Amino acid sequence: AQTPVKVTVTGAAGQIGYALLFRIASGQLLGADVPVTLSLLEVPQAVKAAEGTAMELDDCAFPLLRGIEITDDPNVAFNGTNVALLVGAMPRKAGMERGDLLEANGGIFGPQGKAINDHAADDIRVLVVGNPANTNALIAQQHAPDVPAERFTAMTRLDHNRALSQLAAKLGVAVADIKKMTIWGNHSATQYPDLFHTEVGGKIAAEQVDESWLRDTFIPTVAKRGAAIIDARGASSAASAANAAIDHVHDWVNGTEWTSAAIVSDGSYGVPEGLISSFPVASRGGRWEIIQGLEIDAFSRERIDASVRELEEERDAVRKLGLI
Ligand code: NAI
Repeated sequence: AQTPVKVTVTGAAGQIGYALLFRIASGQLLGADVPVTLSLLEVPQAVKAAEGTAMELDDCAFPLLRGIEITDDPNVAFNGTNVALLVGAMPRKAGMERGDLLEANGGIFGPQGKAINDHAADDIRVLVVGNPANTNALIAQQHAPDVPAERFTAMTRLDHNRALSQLAAKLGVAVADIKKMTIWGNHSATQYPDLFHTEVGGKIAAEQVDESWLRDTFIPTVAKRGAAIIDARGASSAASAANAAIDHVHDWVNGTEWTSAAIVSDGSYGVPEGLISSFPVASRGGRWEIIQGLEIDAFSRERIDASVRELEEERDAVRKLGLI
């Protein structure tokens, strides 16, 4: 029998965790023929809630779910892990300065990176969902010198999916008719959803919409969608975030011709080497590759640069705080 894949989810008792765990256990993360064991990492005061979720996972009697472990110790949670979904993070509270936010998250993602370094399986793949996702991923990666840097990624797939859905509605086409969508930069309000390489019906999407819609409606709608969800739902995106995490890991493992993911830059497209920034990517043989050779017009250049500048500022801030 096939050895189960160990999947660790941090922040397992949170709202994304609740939307995510059942889909992993049902086979949607890795494939309908891949058995999994789940490790649920939580802070001590949320372990009991995670135990409740585990009871419900038991009650689903998922044929692929071969075991559940619940712990507040990262060294246990990441022991032998093949896939780590880092969802738990310190949210920004009212009046919190950026430095405080980065410092609080450094206290989470530094030790988790080290635990991954020391205990995870050789084929470990890490997706950081918890915000600020790109910089949290950088912190974790910097604490895991023995793990290839490319194994640390951050999630911009939700932004990618939001962009697909907005464009499909605008053009009156199916999401499946849209090819080559790209999100560049940081998972933040500065992100740049790029329609200049996106194809609909074999033609460039940017040429099928007017410039003012692209600039004044599409880009801000995608970038501020998270806030709009909070406004409407009274809680932040959870099922859609979990769905994007599933898509990201599924495509990483099983391959794709084109999507968006924040991965360690090799200097492509002028993004400084080492930053974890969103790119157009393909996945082949279980590895992300940045899609090369795209022409970047002035409009796009300005927006990519602005988002990358923000990532550099976050990196410099965590450096100054001694977090990396
Ligand atoms: P939530 O507050 O419902 O759950 C977070 C959970 O993490 C809590 O149960 C908390 O106890 C746990 N946690 C905190 N510190 C931890 C630690 N050191 N180890 C293990 N667990 C820990 O939050 P929700 O809605 O599930 O969101 C989680 C994160 O995902 C947030 O940072 C949010 O901003 C981010 N997010 C990212 C998106 C993206 O597109 N990249 C989209 C939506 C949310």
